[in-house]
Amino acid sequence: MEYGLAIKNNHLYFGGADTVELAKQYGTPLYVFDEQLIRNACRDYKNSIDRYYDGNGMVLYASKAFSCKEMYRLANEEGIGVDTVSGGEIYTALAAGFPAENIFFHGNNKTNDELELAIEKNIGHIVIDDFDEIDRINSIAEKLGKTVKVMLRIKPGIDAHTHEFIKTGQNDCKFGFTLETGEALEAAKKAIKAKNLNVTGFHCHIGSQIFSTEPFCLAASVMASFIARIANETGHVVSELNLGGGFGIRYTDEDEPLPYAEFMQKVSAQLKYSCKELSLPVPKVFIEPGRSIVGPAGITLYTVGSIKTIPNIRTYVSVDGGMSDNPRYALYGAKYDMLIANKAEQANDFVATVAGKCCESGDLIGENIKIATPETGDILAVLATGAYNYSMASNYNRIPRPAAIMVKNGESRVIIKRETFEDLISKDL
Ligand code: LLP
Repeated sequence: MEYGLAIKNNHLYFGGADTVELAKQYGTPLYVFDEQLIRNACRDYKNSIDRYYDGNGMVLYASKAFSCKEMYRLANEEGIGVDTVSGGEIYTALAAGFPAENIFFHGNNKTNDELELAIEKNIGHIVIDDFDEIDRINSIAEKLGKTVKVMLRIKPGIDAHTHEFIKTGQNDCKFGFTLETGEALEAAKKAIKAKNLNVTGFHCHIGSQIFSTEPFCLAASVMASFIARIANETGHVVSELNLGGGFGIRYTDEDEPLPYAEFMQKVSAQLKYSCKELSLPVPKVFIEPGRSIVGPAGITLYTVGSIKTIPNIRTYVSVDGGMSDNPRYALYGAKYDMLIANKAEQANDFVATVAGKCCESGDLIGENIKIATPETGDILAVLATGAYNYSMASNYNRIPRPAAIMVKNGESRVIIKRETFEDLISKDL
């Protein structure tokens, strides 16, 4: 088995810990993270960016995938930066002692309060998404007597083949400036002229859960041409290029991710080639992996409750969580591998529709899932839930959000406490 999983005595182990025991000790639903897997992913990215960009690159963990204080501490210990998309993520990172200079701030509709927080705290880079933001950042920076390092988010016009809702590089998209129409050029000229902005480079992000290197290589060459065009038209040669995130992971056997070093090798070769052709210095390259750092490093444990067979149709196996802790099936039809953690050696010969406990028919975690014959009280493990599960969780139906624990070499610790009913009413007046 992969991703830190093992089977011993009919039980599923993760990060060296018996998941059935973890469920007993901490209760369910429970998010479980394997610290070593997170660290390994950070190191793999860091080593390959150092290698293929000759030390002139930086990995930024896209913290929207899983944001909590412990995650920022880990990223910092691993010597990588972070991408944030809200005042809340910035606040959490700073509260965890994350160095402000290694934070990037993204977003298509940043508020003035968020921008003030970012500028006041000397956040490393702000990625500009809109014309109005150029003026707003410049005037806040002027008011605070600072010069802000900025990048501009560009839509390179690339259609990466992924789910409709998570592709972002094409023109019809709410993020960034369009290259094709001249909008990006106009925005760059405006930002370069702004007195309190230092335009260090450009950013693009073409989508998420992408398996092929081609769209990334294409993005690198399109962005290099854009850098050259800006240099020719304005004399301003930027020194940084942020190529975003989006590297795919294996959720089920249908997914076949490439080793991330291969992405890095191919994209760097393309970028170096393009820069040579354009007589440009190779910029410092940033990448922003989110899903691929935490996705495989997390699983969710549930307790099986009601089991309802509708003859000749299906069997609903309901668990004590659902779309409130993992909305991805409801939102994207996302597929997951699952197994019964206390029957890990038994044949997966039962076909189930795994449902949550929310008052909503679409509250499913998966359909046609092959698991061992389920019984009430079993522990169901859903794999590769480390990204975009906790971070997209809600209190729908006033269901408290689960706890998250970190496991390392069989030892476990709580990193996010389970919400209580008291927490749920804490803001009610
Ligand atoms: N950088 C930028 C500017 C992004 O917008 C994103 C993701 C990333 C980096 C990280 O992409 P990753 O490496 O994680 O694929 N909620 C969806 C995913 C939305 C991704 C949004 N942006 C999901 O659950 O699949």
